[in-house]
Amino acid sequence: MNESQKDNQTGYISAINGSLIEIKGIEQNIRLHDLVKITTHNILGEVIQIYSNKTIVQCYENTNNIRLNEKIINLGEPLSMELGPGLLSSIYDGIQRPLERILEQFENASFLKRGVELPSLSRTKKWHFMPLLEPDINVNGGDIIGVVQETPSIKHYILAPPMVSGILTYIVEEGDYLIIDEIYRLKNKNEENSFNMIQRWSVTKSRPFKKKIRPVEPLITGTRIIDLLFPIAKGGTVAIPGGFGTGKTVIQQSLAKWCDADIIIFIGCGERGNEIADTLKEFSKIIDPKTNRPLLERVVIIANTSNMPVSAREASIFSGITIAEYYRDMGYNVALMADSTSRWAESLREISGLLEEMPAEEGYPAYLPSKLSSFYERAGVVYPLGRNNSNKECIGSLTIIGSVSPPSGDFSEPVTATTKRFVQAFWALDARLAYAKHYPALNWLDSYSNYPEYISDWCNKRDTLWPELNLDWFDCRNQVNEILSIENDLKNLTQLIGEENLPEDQQLILFCAKLIKEGFLIQNAFDDIDNYTDFKKLMGLIKLILLLHKKAKELLSQGIIIEEIKDLKIINEILRIGNSIPNNEFYKIEKLKEKLLDEINELKISYSTMKGK
Ligand SMILES: Nc1ncnc2c1ncn2[C@@H]1O[C@H](COP(=O)(O)OP(=O)(O)O)[C@@H](O)[C@H]1O
Ligand SMILES: [Mg+2]
Repeated sequence: MNESQKDNQTGYISAINGSLIEIKGIEQNIRLHDLVKITTHNILGEVIQIYSNKTIVQCYENTNNIRLNEKIINLGEPLSMELGPGLLSSIYDGIQRPLERILEQFENASFLKRGVELPSLSRTKKWHFMPLLEPDINVNGGDIIGVVQETPSIKHYILAPPMVSGILTYIVEEGDYLIIDEIYRLKNKNEENSFNMIQRWSVTKSRPFKKKIRPVEPLITGTRIIDLLFPIAKGGTVAIPGGFGTGKTVIQQSLAKWCDADIIIFIGCGERGNEIADTLKEFSKIIDPKTNRPLLERVVIIANTSNMPVSAREASIFSGITIAEYYRDMGYNVALMADSTSRWAESLREISGLLEEMPAEEGYPAYLPSKLSSFYERAGVVYPLGRNNSNKECIGSLTIIGSVSPPSGDFSEPVTATTKRFVQAFWALDARLAYAKHYPALNWLDSYSNYPEYISDWCNKRDTLWPELNLDWFDCRNQVNEILSIENDLKNLTQLIGEENLPEDQQLILFCAKLIKEGFLIQNAFDDIDNYTDFKKLMGLIKLILLLHKKAKELLSQGIIIEEIKDLKIINEILRIGNSIPNNEFYKIEKLKEKLLDEINELKISYSTMKGK
């Protein structure tokens, strides 16, 4: 940069309006989304509007004590993530500053100091790098150069950055290196470039891939109502709308703990500080059921509490998704949870208000839909770039699970309604269910998922349980849905004339619906056995209930009365399967099935002898 260009990179503050500042003096050189820094306070901000005589910047930190005429410099690049070994188990703020290290540095600071500059990835930690390529080979963006064991369970593939290519002229030997040490060099025409283990990627741009493909595998969550009725695919999108206290955070956390993704990115966005602190505490305690090591070893947390400035909320959302895409590109299944996207939307509204933009619905800016879609559209299953030098067919996926907190639980408000357009699954949390302690409080009539058709082959193939019943995963879903919807249709009638006055077959439906709700849909996230139901136990439990329904129908048609069926001893045992039979003791469910058939037979025999008398 020559002197005159440098001059054009500095400017001064000409107005301050909340977290927005107006800058003069750099209009000629600045681009939208460029970062600028208020030099005296070390505060970063992002350019959001450019006029011929001024530039508007939103600051990522609070603007207290900032004065007019203070100097700013244009950093000339948008907010980018530093990507490389050391991301896992990190806890970052919205602009990828390591929260833990900030807190360590300022031990007594109860809130974050402003203007702290710390590298996102440690500059002093050495990583054991193993080269996977030999010199002289042609390398393209996305190719795997080598590998680092980032945590005991996760290998971190060092990929050539997306846009580069060239002949590998040099690669280090296996050994311990800092992330800033030179690892390899690529020569393209006459230019030779040196690379270390770090890549930078601008957060607003999605990382390129070869091809997006249709999702076909479910993300198994271990939550029964989700895995059977409202499943998501790996690479899918889902919104969890729900009023305060309906269980959004609990669902997000249990997904983070139990779902079968390799890598979890958890964004705590604008929720109350103590809630995020709880989340952090929770996470640091959890032992990963898959590896028996701390779960944090495959998690990246981005925490952005409600007392941090609103403008950092958007940054935290896009920072998170960029890190998620980076691991997707290594061929991992990544799940990203954002809690709550409403706080992000509210920050857009606040800033739009400061800018005096023409508001659309309920004060939200007209670009709310395009913002939300630019977030959810980054989900998917992809063939990553590169891999020309490996035979392995590589697929990575990124699943996005965003919670939405509609004020007073009204799903027609703009954020919920707009989000609904961009997601393929919708888990509607119902305050009435939560109030009745029916958790998870997913309303089975209002929730939906478009994924069953995508993943039914996978699920049906995986389910080999009790073939003689002729019930696959898809059939089970259909039957359960049917029972629950008939129950709903009967609701008014039941209230009017009383359950005992309904025909017996309808009473049976009500009884089975009750079994499904109490024994299957209700699931305690805090119970050591009930918190996670694997696929086999899921199928065992639901097939037992449906088998009971089928046999009971036969009994009714033979003249046995519904009360006798309700009195079967097996009923109580079925209701307790969730929290009494661990996944690895499936034989107990097999035994219950035998017992069910025995009890039904006994009932038949005693009935026919009674009739004979
Ligand atoms: N699956 C669940 N099992 C047991 N309790 C639950 C479950 N989901 C929610 N709860 C209860 O509801 C409370 C509120 O849930 P939370 O996730 O914090 O709500 P939200 O984030 O929607 O405000 C929790 O503290 C817990 O007591
Ligand atoms: Mg919450």
